[in-house]
Amino acid sequence: MKRVSLKLDRNRYDIHIGPGALGQAGRWLEESGLGGKLVIITNPIVNELYGGSLKQQLAKGGAEVVVLEVPDGEEQKSLETAGRLYHELTSHHVERTTPILALGGGVIGDLAGFVAATYLRGVPLVPIPTTLLAQVDSSLGGKVAVNHGQLKNQVGAFYQPRLVISDTDTLKTLPPPELTNGLAEVIKSAAIRDSGFFAYLEANMERIKALDGGVLEEVVFRSAHIKAEVVAKDEKDTGLRGILNYGHTIGHALETASDFGLGHGEAVAIGMLAAGRISCQMGLLQSGELDRLKRLVEKAGLPARMPALDLARLTAAMTHDKKISGGKIRMVLLKSIGSAAITDQVSGELIEQALRG
Ligand code: NAD
Ligand code: GLY
Repeated sequence: MKRVSLKLDRNRYDIHIGPGALGQAGRWLEESGLGGKLVIITNPIVNELYGGSLKQQLAKGGAEVVVLEVPDGEEQKSLETAGRLYHELTSHHVERTTPILALGGGVIGDLAGFVAATYLRGVPLVPIPTTLLAQVDSSLGGKVAVNHGQLKNQVGAFYQPRLVISDTDTLKTLPPPELTNGLAEVIKSAAIRDSGFFAYLEANMERIKALDGGVLEEVVFRSAHIKAEVVAKDEKDTGLRGILNYGHTIGHALETASDFGLGHGEAVAIGMLAAGRISCQMGLLQSGELDRLKRLVEKAGLPARMPALDLARLTAAMTHDKKISGGKIRMVLLKSIGSAAITDQVSGELIEQALRG
């Protein structure tokens, strides 16, 4: 079992990572002073797989456990679903000290986190992420949100958890495309911050795809370590934390322009390579390093080529993206494998060229 500590100005919390971590949830909750009544927010798929045994374990330890299910799917990240959960929390007499355990992927994490941040002005939050994306990215760092209208993550907060429990065994039941999706964020983390981890991924991608337990633990641990280090330096996302958006400026535009035909991980993978090409053209990155990134993306089973999409729509989607500062597009570029920089100095011409593929 591994542990990453996320140290913030006013508090710190532990991220427990490893196979079988779920079985120790009761102990860690107790050590953090969380007990009595506990609320698990989850969805039917994850509840069926892991909710029953978690509930049993916590109840055995003497806790009163309330399980609240929401249907599966991104559309549940809404104020409407949050409102329904507030009603249920009230009917179960949830108090300010009652922790909410968010058992599931990023959708459950963002929704349950938003509810925890706002119900009674905040109750303790404990993410128990069960997708690779949630274990390496969304459950860490305190961003919680719901969508509003057509806009993703439009209403939210920075609300840090009390602890995070990432059981890497849960990744073994993930539909394979969901594992691949999370790998885009893993590759991103290595590319922006840790060349040694990038080399580890190059050497171990087959073992990740084969769900090797030791390798999965190492991958989640090293990714969580990178995110924790970045968030610790810039909790409120005013500077350095922006590097976590590597591949996402073009990636989000690709998701929109493809009417979400491209998955998030696929779009981020293509976005990372497009930003990599721009980095080379601006003389920041050597072409050999871009080739390594391309090979790793392909090894992970992610697409590397820009799809044939309407250029005008893509450009419009980019300029509507929120990663814009003072009318200029803000992008993350690579200086080398393991080192990134944020700039608003990329010319429209270079961006258009990158979007053409
Ligand atoms: P998801 O939560 O929809 O999960 C993907 C699918 O896998 C779902 O069908 C889910 O039910 C299923 N699932 C989850 N765990 C499983 C398991 N162990 N075995 C089998 N099936 C399982 O998707 P996601 O990719 O985890 O998260 C996407 C969300 O995360 C988006 O809403 C995105 O905006 C958000 N996000 C948030 C942050 C943040 O910092 N807060 C960062 C990145 C992404
Ligand atoms: N997913 C980007 C961040 O947490 O800042």
